Amino acid sequence: MRSFLSLLDFTPEELNQLIHRAIELKAILKRGEEHYPLKGKTLAMIFELSSTRTRVAFETGMFQLGGHAIFVEGSSSQFGRGEPVEDSARVLSQMVDIISIRTTDHSRLEAFNRAASVPVINAMSDTLHPCQLLADIQTFQEKRGSIAGKKVAFIGDGYNMCNSYMNAADQFGFELRIACPPGFRPDQHRIDQSNNIHLVETPQEAVENTDLVITDVWSSMGHEDVQVQRLAAFEGYQVDKKLLDLADKNALFMHCLPAHRGEEISAELLDDPRSVAWEEAGNRLHSQKALLEFLLR
Ligand code: CP
Repeated sequence: MRSFLSLLDFTPEELNQLIHRAIELKAILKRGEEHYPLKGKTLAMIFELSSTRTRVAFETGMFQLGGHAIFVEGSSSQFGRGEPVEDSARVLSQMVDIISIRTTDHSRLEAFNRAASVPVINAMSDTLHPCQLLADIQTFQEKRGSIAGKKVAFIGDGYNMCNSYMNAADQFGFELRIACPPGFRPDQHRIDQSNNIHLVETPQEAVENTDLVITDVWSSMGHEDVQVQRLAAFEGYQVDKKLLDLADKNALFMHCLPAHRGEEISAELLDDPRSVAWEEAGNRLHSQKALLEFLLR
């Protein structure tokens, strides 16, 4: 039994196989072929935080693969009323075949996974968002070929998306340059562990000649109460057309969405020809289907 809490839970070969399969599943869907490998299987989706893309991708994905998905909202279930996560894991493991969790506390996800006897998927935690990375790498591969050996810039908050890009840099073999304001940088120890990851001083230095530019909101879910202070701290870290012009002429721009136009990105950036944010969001469906198929094969 395998779980997917982090990109580091799979080998680079398995991750590349998943990306390949996501592209294949997208083509199977487009051709209208019947493909129901998960007939009779049920996914329980526990969400302690809001979601549009992740939830709809899992629910639609299970349906398209012949299975079924159940939405379990944290606040309206016992999960959000203090029942120990280990107890929830033992109970749900007897009823469903696979469980995804979005939580504010990565250690709760790990505790749940230790007690579960079915595969567990990280649908985003305060530490990592590995499902998003599957869609991002799929999107890059579809547009530009393998991301191995390419240069990627992450600008903004050194939080769960930045952490996931650091794991991706090591697993998929690309160079990652990170520019975050002081106080919002990722764990230096993690950076020091890798030859692929470089913390740089400015967004301009990070973006120069890169093949892919990434950013995320400056106040992720759970940080709304400090949004105003963060606007000041992140001044100068907005990604706009001028900053993107410093990247390679074939560079792509991605954003996991939802975006705050006028904050981490300029108002028009998602409509720039270099932005592939909409395809990236659409690929959440195909990459999560590949993940479900892999874990339930
Ligand atoms: N990018 C992402 O995870 O989107 P949702 O919060 O809508 O699921």
